[in-house]
Amino acid sequence: MLKGRSLIEPLDFSVEELDALFGLANEIAEAPEQYADACAGKLLATLFYEPSTRTRFSFEAAMLRLGGKVIGFSGEANSSAAKGESIADTIRTVACYADVAVIRHPKEGSALVAAKRTDMPVINGGDGGHQHPTQTLTDLLTIRREKGRLNGLRIGLCGDLKFGRTVHSLIKALSRYEDMEFCLISPEELVAPEYVVRYIRQGRDCGYTEARHMKEVMGRLDILYMTRVQRERFFNEEDYLRLKDTYILDAKKMKDAPQDMIVMHPLPRVNEIAPEVDEDPRAKYFEQAKNGMYVRMALIMSLLGVGV
Ligand code: NCD
Repeated sequence: MLKGRSLIEPLDFSVEELDALFGLANEIAEAPEQYADACAGKLLATLFYEPSTRTRFSFEAAMLRLGGKVIGFSGEANSSAAKGESIADTIRTVACYADVAVIRHPKEGSALVAAKRTDMPVINGGDGGHQHPTQTLTDLLTIRREKGRLNGLRIGLCGDLKFGRTVHSLIKALSRYEDMEFCLISPEELVAPEYVVRYIRQGRDCGYTEARHMKEVMGRLDILYMTRVQRERFFNEEDYLRLKDTYILDAKKMKDAPQDMIVMHPLPRVNEIAPEVDEDPRAKYFEQAKNGMYVRMALIMSLLGVGV
């Protein structure tokens, strides 16, 4: 039962709970109109201290499509944080008005701090360079829908593995499944943090290889997960400029990839996937964005305990 719980970390839900959630998301995707009133009378609060397009809009769209309502702010300047209010006080106030809240914040651990201060379900919409569990739900649902399974897969994660929170959460979540192989493709300076690699080492039959060039692994991947270099988390602009275009996936590189490999990206993309790749049937990043709405609909329903 997910009713009344929060989602702060990718492993907060068991594999069985995730299966049920994905089952519901698939049912919603089949017939969304049947859920049009599922959350009537309920209110979602979106507290976004950092920029977002997909995460905020997909949460808002999810709640509106469930017949619920949404309040919130986007940008610290538009909330009392600008006056110096703590996240603990903000969440306790929001809990007086809303039934569930999603928080995106530049500081690691902020969603956890908020969740500890209230009985209202709190969803982590990204905490700094740390975790992004609802992007992981989106990614897992997409892999399940496209590949039919969440084990025995070889996944290449490419780009900024140091600061990319979607990668950190996805590795953590996938290491729980059997027989996964991770190909970590990044420049030396942007390798995955040690604590993230440790999830793989502790996983069941999971292994990893490191690569500096895409072509080293391209021919044997089931999934290629591209990411942008996280400009806002760099200490200096010079390093960002030097590293930002290290990997650019284009039609030529796609020729080396298996016919059934899928390309994913949490978006936004900058230069790392050439627009020409969008026409390739293996490109799944916009489907992925759509799955994000369905899985968030399933999540909101489950945390509120409605219709499940
Ligand atoms: C990601 C994020 O915010 O971490 N975006 C998203 O939520 N889809 C990825 C990114 O910003 O690069």
